[in-house]
Amino acid sequence: MTVLVTGAAGFIGFHLARALLENGREVVAIDNLNDYYEVTLKKARLDQLSSQSGFTFYQLDIADQSGMEKLVADHPEITGVLHMAAQAGVRYSLENPMAYAETNLQGQVQLLEVCRRLKKMEHFVFASSSSVYGGRKDLPFSVEDRTDKPVSLYATTKRSGELMCYSYAHLYDMPVTALRFFTVYGPWGRPDMAYYMFTRDVLAGKPINVFNNGEMRRDFTYIDDVTRGVLCCLKSPPQRDQDDAPFALYNIGNNRSENLMDFIAVIEKETGKKAEIDFQPMQPGDVKETFADIESAKQDFGFDPVTGIAEGLPNFIKWYRDYYDT
Ligand SMILES: NC(=O)c1ccc[n+]([C@@H]2O[C@H](COP(=O)([O-])OP(=O)(O)OC[C@H]3O[C@@H](n4cnc5c(N)ncnc54)[C@H](O)[C@@H]3O)[C@@H](O)[C@H]2O)c1
Repeated sequence: MTVLVTGAAGFIGFHLARALLENGREVVAIDNLNDYYEVTLKKARLDQLSSQSGFTFYQLDIADQSGMEKLVADHPEITGVLHMAAQAGVRYSLENPMAYAETNLQGQVQLLEVCRRLKKMEHFVFASSSSVYGGRKDLPFSVEDRTDKPVSLYATTKRSGELMCYSYAHLYDMPVTALRFFTVYGPWGRPDMAYYMFTRDVLAGKPINVFNNGEMRRDFTYIDDVTRGVLCCLKSPPQRDQDDAPFALYNIGNNRSENLMDFIAVIEKETGKKAEIDFQPMQPGDVKETFADIESAKQDFGFDPVTGIAEGLPNFIKWYRDYYDT
């Protein structure tokens, strides 16, 4: 089985590519290596992958039509796609909305267009986001809930991505699954995310910005649980259901909503340093709470998250201290 991983130099794409290679799969990987955050970190992730056999990398933008057409022409053997490439981040979507339109809308159409021509394609898996639930107060979030009130442009593009996936599943009988990830964290993580910035600043003795006066709750999902879940999902493509498209939608969360202040307490304990907290009001585009209902993912492909923050955060902090030698 050959799997195309988009965004393979990114946090989640890297972990997925590494796990696929460890399982003896061939991986065709692409990433445009943009400078939204440290390019050195993206290259360091790729260095880990490139030493393994079965790994082929192209620096390529998913919105590049001729580049993408050549990629699939050169790799007709691709049977699965893990589409992780995106312009991520809620707050940055207020600063640079066009980056979201270019990758998450235009780029995604381009990717789906070339993938539908892959004759051996068995399953296309798309990374969506819990942000599509907006400011919903009914918890936990279920894939049956309405998602027509996104509170950030990032969320809008992710919901649009899901709808595009449905259309392609319907039109071309291409099995597609969209997975809504809930705050994924862990080693080789993403420097724009709160857990990463908190760790960096607490270790450096700098104040940390905590929004909504700390009254935030998140369903934090550890990367190894996500990786196992996505790979199980990849092996379980949805079937065409009578007259409906072969499309499925799931939450990938930990099914535990943690208080942000408890999360910070674990960072303090693990680093041995007290956080200097600068409380700030709620940020535009942000949501107060996330909490995933994961029953259908458990039932349909055995998704089974087992890692709480007391175990996962120390693993991240250990990696961080080794990587930055701090
Ligand atoms: N990390 C989370 O908590 C989280 C939560 C919800 C959803 N997601 C989604 O999961 C996916 C992976 O997230 P991540 O945390 O690994 O983010 P990431 O930013 O680390 O990885 C995304 C990768 O995609 C690449 N990329 C961006 N635009 C591209 C383009 N046009 N062409 C090719 N490559 C491009 C980037 O260079 C980056 O390496 C994204 O779709 C993100 O929206 C992540």
